Amino acid sequence: ADDGYRLWLRYDKIQDEDLRQDYLHQLRQIHYAGSSARIEKAKEELQRGISGLLAQKITFSDEPGNGPTLIAGTPESSPHIRSMELQGELRSLGEDGYLITRDRQNNIAIAASRDIGLLYGTFHFLRLLQSQQSLQDLDIKSAPQIQLRVLNHWFNLDGTAERGYAGGAIWQWEQLPDYKDPLYTDYARANASVGINGTVLNNVNSDALILTEGYLEKVKALADVFRPYGIKVYLSARFSAPIEIGNLSTADPRDPEVRRWWEKKANEIYSRIPDFGGFLVKANSEGQPGPQDYNRSHAEGANMLAKALSPHGGVVMWRAFVYSNEEPEDRVKQAYNEFTPLDGEFRDNVLVQVKNGPLDFQPREPFHPLFGAMPETPLMMEFQITQEYLGFATHLTYQAPLYEEVLDADTYAKGEGSYVRKVIDGSLDDKQLTGMAGVANIGTDRNWTGHPFAQANWYAYGRLAWNPELGSERIAEEWISMTFSNKEAFIEPVKEMMLASREIAVDYRTPLGLHHIMGYGSHYGPGPWVDEGRADWTSVYYHRADSSGIGFDRSTSGSNAVSQYHPPVKQQFNDIEKVPEKYLLWFHHVEWDYELDSGRTLWEGLVHHYYSGVDSIRRMQDTWESVEGYIDEQRYTHVARLLEIQEKEAAFWRDACVLYFQQFSGRPIPDAYPEPDHP
Ligand code: GCU
Repeated sequence: ADDGYRLWLRYDKIQDEDLRQDYLHQLRQIHYAGSSARIEKAKEELQRGISGLLAQKITFSDEPGNGPTLIAGTPESSPHIRSMELQGELRSLGEDGYLITRDRQNNIAIAASRDIGLLYGTFHFLRLLQSQQSLQDLDIKSAPQIQLRVLNHWFNLDGTAERGYAGGAIWQWEQLPDYKDPLYTDYARANASVGINGTVLNNVNSDALILTEGYLEKVKALADVFRPYGIKVYLSARFSAPIEIGNLSTADPRDPEVRRWWEKKANEIYSRIPDFGGFLVKANSEGQPGPQDYNRSHAEGANMLAKALSPHGGVVMWRAFVYSNEEPEDRVKQAYNEFTPLDGEFRDNVLVQVKNGPLDFQPREPFHPLFGAMPETPLMMEFQITQEYLGFATHLTYQAPLYEEVLDADTYAKGEGSYVRKVIDGSLDDKQLTGMAGVANIGTDRNWTGHPFAQANWYAYGRLAWNPELGSERIAEEWISMTFSNKEAFIEPVKEMMLASREIAVDYRTPLGLHHIMGYGSHYGPGPWVDEGRADWTSVYYHRADSSGIGFDRSTSGSNAVSQYHPPVKQQFNDIEKVPEKYLLWFHHVEWDYELDSGRTLWEGLVHHYYSGVDSIRRMQDTWESVEGYIDEQRYTHVARLLEIQEKEAAFWRDACVLYFQQFSGRPIPDAYPEPDHP
């Protein structure tokens, strides 16, 4: 039986005997220089990995002896590494980078400037063995392009997880700090293996209690577990905490007592956790308190916290997810309107954290227009790994193509080639402080993420935060080979299935630029009819279907959201003939008989997307059936059954949406398609 707990760090014995012998021969001795908590963790992992994969216990030798040896060290810790004269190259790879190469005697060497690079290099080396790569011409250089690679957990102090679908919070608050569940170590290993170096422990809708002494002791205990893996702890800070736990009557950022309170709080945190990362803040958004409660700007609020953290080296990650129902302006325009005037006003240890799109983690959105619009401010990307709008932990949706689509989008902020990823990695505007956040999909489920394939989204997020140009395909290959099987006959079809899965998810939910038509509150099933409560949480506000057509007119003759993009993106999105069809109904209200690229009318095209989405799930099921036998029965069956549920629910989405929109289009469902069976 296999419950998937080991994630991609499985280390099962390599079955190919020749290969195993070859690896054993090359790793006859292992010399790991230096001694530190991180080196200990790297050695432990190597020990675990090699004894599993090669079924041989390893011992570490004190000196690089005779015969093939794996040598790891920094130029400071190892005379041997020093003699390889890699210093210049290592410097160019920065603090976290590493080299995996051959020395003059043809030994394998892992070299880095710092111990953390050795840990990352060790995980990389193990990945080579796990995916059965040749060790012959090793010449690997790797360094992260983004500095802060952070998971955001939306865990509450009562143990629940907001928008989490894999069980509850993994922090056992009531048992901390005394009992440190070994799971925390496995969590840290998994993150370090993909280069994640930060974790925000609590929900952005935050409880001020996390900042009290009792909880800070628990936070310290977690920080102590994570530190040897290079992972810093951050907290979501509630802006009104000085009132709630500090007995002050205000949280006004201009009030000297409030400022002092935060400074003392920061000192208190750092006295326990000297490498504390900083605060994540959701302010004046969806009912959360913030500086605007006192008529102060987001910048003033962020700067007060940043000033308190700055003597200790901490940062503030201030979220740009703001919108208000009272505001008559199109919701997707509000964050840009509010934040662009503040560009240049933030202290230098503030990052503004921006969701990938201007609405809210929809199956597809155009990139957020703030990217490329705040050259004076470090902008941090926020992706959602947890599948709030993508079928929770029930639907198989590999999200790397979604992340990649956004990272590769061209903002044209400084002409052609001003990709979103260049905003994020700091190269476009010469920013030193850079970051990416992923809202985690991890919970107490035995396999961490609920759906076995949801593990791939955690993995892919980390790999893309390290290198935004890695590519979804390569990441999928790595993940499949480590998680399931190295057999080509398994990898190829499963990879194709994963790569197609995101577009399929869009097809049966929100094709052609539709958005926000899911069930109210739960955000799970279809709900294009939702028409009650605050307007910006309904569906009709977004799809605007009527007898003339469907879609949200955001062109210059509509809400003019297109004006927030630089030319020529603006002109492209504004022109119904030029806008990419995947964003058509995001930017335009389109007549039912409008002709699409395919020659179909809009109505026929819409129906076609919904039907082909469901048909594609059936093809995914066929693919999965075709690889039965390559992997363990437990995970195979789990995925097979989940695909059955996905197929039923995709059909429900299709039928609900097609029948609902048909009331407005007044047109028949083309003969080629069977009648919906969920009247
Ligand atoms: C979404 C989500 C909320 C979450 C919010 C946020 O609206 O449904 O649960 O709090 O995003 O990102 O702040």
